[in-house]
Amino acid sequence: MSADDKKKNACVLAMEYVKPDMKLGLGTGSTANIFIELVGEQVNQGLDVVCVPTSVASHDLAHSLGIALTTLEQCPQLDLTVDGADEFDDELILIKGGGGALLREKIVAKASHTMVVITDDSKHVDVLGKFPLPVEVIPFGEASTVIAIEQVAGQLGMKGRIELRKSDDGTPFITDSGNHIYDCHFEALKSPRQLAAALNAIPGVVEHGLFIDIASVVLIGNSDGAYKLQR
Ligand code: 5RP
Repeated sequence: MSADDKKKNACVLAMEYVKPDMKLGLGTGSTANIFIELVGEQVNQGLDVVCVPTSVASHDLAHSLGIALTTLEQCPQLDLTVDGADEFDDELILIKGGGGALLREKIVAKASHTMVVITDDSKHVDVLGKFPLPVEVIPFGEASTVIAIEQVAGQLGMKGRIELRKSDDGTPFITDSGNHIYDCHFEALKSPRQLAAALNAIPGVVEHGLFIDIASVVLIGNSDGAYKLQR
């Protein structure tokens, strides 16, 4: 079974969490896209929900499917956000940001009563960090910010390449909020909670891809269907 089929199994299960009249956060990425398409199908059959997308790409997809959209300004508290992840562990700590939308994704997830994560079984890990941790950084002074990231990681026993993310044309990738992303190849995040706090304390860091105590449920698609891990 392909990874996309497994992702779809998780998305089908996620639809069970979607109820009429909900205010819904829509994630970003290939798994979130499958979910958005399922929401679009239900909306076309009469489901009444209003959604806040976590990226321009998800906005455009949802809009094209006829899904009613709003913003956090108009609707600051949401019932549910459904989003993908790049890695997750048994504590439901996530690494997100492979698609570059981690900042808006975290704002929307934190504004939601519940965050449901949709994944396939390849993303479940014992130790987070094989997937490089994305850190969104303000371009001003970014060379200094990268040194500060290196230092705090080193103090916590983590080191590795810290790489500016590039677009396909070789120029720096720019997030929807106008920032850069550095992918931190630390291989094993020995103390994710301490690392998250230390990164948050660096002035040039806007946000990082560690989602801690945010997800309530992870739905994991596999070749038999989907199962869940819950906090
Ligand atoms: C985007 C994300 C995505 O949720 C994450 O990268 C997973 O993407 P995909 O569903 O394509 O595997 O965090 O910023």
